[in-house]
Amino acid sequence: MRAAVLDRLGEPAEVLTCRELPTPEPGPGQVRVKMIASPINPSDMMTIRGAYVSKPDVPFTPGYEGVGVVDKAGPGLLGKFMVGRRVAVLNQAGGNWAEFAVVPAVRVIPVPKDLPDEQVASFFVNPATVLAMVRHVHQVPQGAWLLQSAAGSALGRMIIKLGKNDGFKTINVVRRREAIDELKALGADVVISSSDGPIADQVRAIVGPEGVKYAVDPVGGKTGGEIFDCLSLDGRMLVYGTLSGDPLQVSQRALIAGKRVEGFYLGHFMIERGIPRSILLFREIAKMIRAGVLATEPGEHFPLDQVANAAKAAEVVGKKGKVLLKIS
Ligand SMILES: NC(=O)c1ccc[n+]([C@@H]2O[C@H](COP(=O)([O-])OP(=O)(O)OC[C@H]3O[C@@H](n4cnc5c(N)ncnc54)[C@H](OP(=O)(O)O)[C@@H]3O)[C@@H](O)[C@H]2O)c1
Repeated sequence: MRAAVLDRLGEPAEVLTCRELPTPEPGPGQVRVKMIASPINPSDMMTIRGAYVSKPDVPFTPGYEGVGVVDKAGPGLLGKFMVGRRVAVLNQAGGNWAEFAVVPAVRVIPVPKDLPDEQVASFFVNPATVLAMVRHVHQVPQGAWLLQSAAGSALGRMIIKLGKNDGFKTINVVRRREAIDELKALGADVVISSSDGPIADQVRAIVGPEGVKYAVDPVGGKTGGEIFDCLSLDGRMLVYGTLSGDPLQVSQRALIAGKRVEGFYLGHFMIERGIPRSILLFREIAKMIRAGVLATEPGEHFPLDQVANAAKAAEVVGKKGKVLLKIS
């Protein structure tokens, strides 16, 4: 089979190649999926650079999510039940940027027929993170303000639309002024640019001196610190990304006074949730994708053998939509 491979960790556009590998066989409790498409997410890029939660052994084929059709099952009942079904592939070990991926049968989710491949390819990581952070961890009530940075990201746009759907208000921070009108058109209540002065001054001018109770930040560094500065004394910020690559600096005095900062990682959230409640979450996601709230905006498509160009496109400043590898 053809697969994207890296033989050393490093800059994605330099280390990613596409070559022939043996087609894998599913073992007990596993299924093999003929992959249709897989998105390029920031978590893939961090893994390739060796900067994610765990470092992979090389040679390594990236790709944590995607869509495909189960074509073969190893020994085990669940896998046999999945053969022939189109599924979202949650590949925790990576390996979806290939013509075939082998994963545990419990890691494929059969999806409703009416959802297009492009949406199923990004069925899980961003939609589940949005629902988990906003509805389950923060439990943002109707009418409250939620402050977020990197609001133009695929995930940030989902938060904006979820705000409209659930009735909370969003203050959205972007790094480029050009993104402001686009996000307002999506339904953002307020959009501010970090290039227009301290974020805390801009936010307090809108919500008042007490600040905001709910915030989420995937940037860290200076921007993350400024988002933290916007919290009210009972406020909490969930940190869920490392886009700037810089460490977060927050005031100890503010922490002592009661402001809180916490990491959020979807992998841990799902383990704590267990299988029955995960199935409920998948249903919640399918419903919200169908309603357009958690739909992913499609970006450029690349064939597998152009994986290095696809990786470059995924990190272009101001790119439109989610870059997708079209595998078959
Ligand atoms: N913790 C978890 O479990 C979890 C789960 C899912 C996703 N995530 C994280 O969620 C974040 C967003 O993912 P995504 O798929 O939505 O990303 P995406 O669509 O690729 O968008 C990336 C966005 O980040 C912005 N950005 C990049 N570097 C930045 C910087 N230094 N300062 C400010 N903004 C910056 C870009 O702004 P421009 O528009 O200006 O280019 C773009 O809007 C990532 O950090 C990802 O790792 C975490």
